[in-house]
Amino acid sequence: MRIGFLGGTGEEGRGLALRFAAAGASVLLGSRSAERAGIAADQYNMTLGRSLIRGTSNTDMLATSEIVYLTVPFDQVVPAVLANRGDLRPDLILVDVSVPLLFREGRPEYVDQVEGSNAEALAQHIPQEIQLVGAFKTIPAHVLSDIDTPLFCDVFLCSDNGPALARVAQSVRLIPSLRPLDAGPLRAARILERMTVLAINLNKRYKKRGARFRVEGI
Ligand SMILES: NC(=O)c1ccc[n+]([C@@H]2O[C@H](COP(=O)([O-])OP(=O)(O)OC[C@H]3O[C@@H](n4cnc5c(N)ncnc54)[C@H](OP(=O)(O)O)[C@@H]3O)[C@@H](O)[C@H]2O)c1
Repeated sequence: MRIGFLGGTGEEGRGLALRFAAAGASVLLGSRSAERAGIAADQYNMTLGRSLIRGTSNTDMLATSEIVYLTVPFDQVVPAVLANRGDLRPDLILVDVSVPLLFREGRPEYVDQVEGSNAEALAQHIPQEIQLVGAFKTIPAHVLSDIDTPLFCDVFLCSDNGPALARVAQSVRLIPSLRPLDAGPLRAARILERMTVLAINLNKRYKKRGARFRVEGI
């Protein structure tokens, strides 16, 4: 399974790249600067103790990846995708992990989107044939990066494209201690993105850092 990261040099890209590489996926780290991606990949490989991740430009990464995680700041997801529009193949699966939130006086606030969610805003800007899945919105990046700690939580997936959702779920199953759950169509991102605000508020109230979700009864 070839998994790429557009903007894989940040905290979220690092966490996901480490987890997928450790799980045996072929991981390609993309950046606007191939050099920056190479440096980040070297650092991630040091953490893994093996050379499993390769860094390159976003353009190169898009040319060979099957599933591409958009790990850029929430308000840069649309510009980043539009900047690479010419390199989006119809068979590509894009995964949106973004959560539109800002901190005001130390408190997280959801930034309302006219489309309902950041995932739905993105859907309006990409060609219809591109398969879009929302995932990993509710798991803190630093918890993903701590690869020696089992996650023991659920990954909520949402999409209007069933086969694409199933393929992303298959990739998530590679990672031990993670369970993918089908949360419904893309509009379910409205709920998932707000659940992240809840998780951060729980962290604050209980003085923890790694709050995440696991559903009982399924
Ligand atoms: N942090 C968390 O715990 C967490 C949890 C769930 C979801 N998320 C989501 O994960 C996403 C990434 O978060 P992050 O904290 O990793 O972000 P970040 O560190 O601020 O940025 C990640 C990377 O995005 C690239 N980038 C920035 N602006 C860009 C642009 N205009 N066009 C193309 N690439 C651009 C940069 O890579 P280059 O300069 O190398 O190109 C940067 O290293 C966000 O949407 C966030 O909502 C985060």
